[in-house]
Amino acid sequence: MVDLGLSGQTALITGSAAGIGLAVAQEFAREGCDVVLWDQSPKVKDMASQIALQYGVTAHGDCVDVASEDLVSQTALSIIQRFGSLRHVVHCAAVGSGTHGYPFTNLTPSDWTRPVQVNLMGMVHLSHAFAPGFVAAKKGSFVFVGSVAGQIGSQTDPPYSATKAANINFAQCMAKDLAPHQVRVNVVCPGMVKTDLNRSVWESWLHGRDESERLDYDQWSEQKISQVVPLGRWQSSSDIANMVLFLASDRASQVTGQTINVDGGYVMR
Ligand SMILES: NC(=O)c1ccc[n+]([C@@H]2O[C@H](COP(=O)([O-])OP(=O)(O)OC[C@H]3O[C@@H](n4cnc5c(N)ncnc54)[C@H](O)[C@@H]3O)[C@@H](O)[C@H]2O)c1
Repeated sequence: MVDLGLSGQTALITGSAAGIGLAVAQEFAREGCDVVLWDQSPKVKDMASQIALQYGVTAHGDCVDVASEDLVSQTALSIIQRFGSLRHVVHCAAVGSGTHGYPFTNLTPSDWTRPVQVNLMGMVHLSHAFAPGFVAAKKGSFVFVGSVAGQIGSQTDPPYSATKAANINFAQCMAKDLAPHQVRVNVVCPGMVKTDLNRSVWESWLHGRDESERLDYDQWSEQKISQVVPLGRWQSSSDIANMVLFLASDRASQVTGQTINVDGGYVMR
């Protein structure tokens, strides 16, 4: 077994009441890392209690909307007071517009507001709240969960796709600024993982489709996967979490400013 050396450290994960974020929090805890879970859903407190019980680490849950600069900065202060400076911040929280965006004129400009606030400004709020502590400590890592959609101009949901591209670009800016302080910044891009977010992409696709074209969620996703994913299968939340943990750990101490796809080979560079 490869020891990632995360035991005794503290990681904060946004969007961790469900899906990939929850799997990331569980994997950090499995490694003996204390975890702080942030999510807009009140379920986050129960999830933190379950993790503490299951893995015997300290796990704390806060109800935070990452779109709010004030909430993020105030809650970050209370976390730093309670846990001291963190070692890892992972931003998983994200939303789509909820509307099928092909062609993009199906959307109105107001459909962009929430994805920009959560996916992009959430990242900005976290960076401002936690980078100064990492710089002072001369260590720390940020991992942002992006998407292959942010690399291919996915037409399904342009606001989602464009904010995921912005995650990649701003992570590169951050990586350059923070490298002299030994703080690393990377992006992990999942392809297709069965979560509520993925299901909502199918729901918006389904909307307005002719009866004859309709597919159920499993048919739709299996068709997509068989057409575009060379490895031919779904990724699991823990596939994504494994890469996040590796990049956060000192095993990746020379890796910064990178975008790593965990997508079964869908996007190759
Ligand atoms: N599932 C996929 O196929 C897939 C593919 C590519 C990228 N991703 C990315 O993976 C990450 C996790 O997605 P997921 O599939 O687990 O989604 P999910 O919907 O299952 O979970 C997202 C979590 O984020 C929380 N959240 C949403 N808005 C928030 C806000 N404003 N503040 C705080 N929490 C908020 C939700 O309550 C939820 O618990 C996202 O960044 C997503 O873009 C997912």
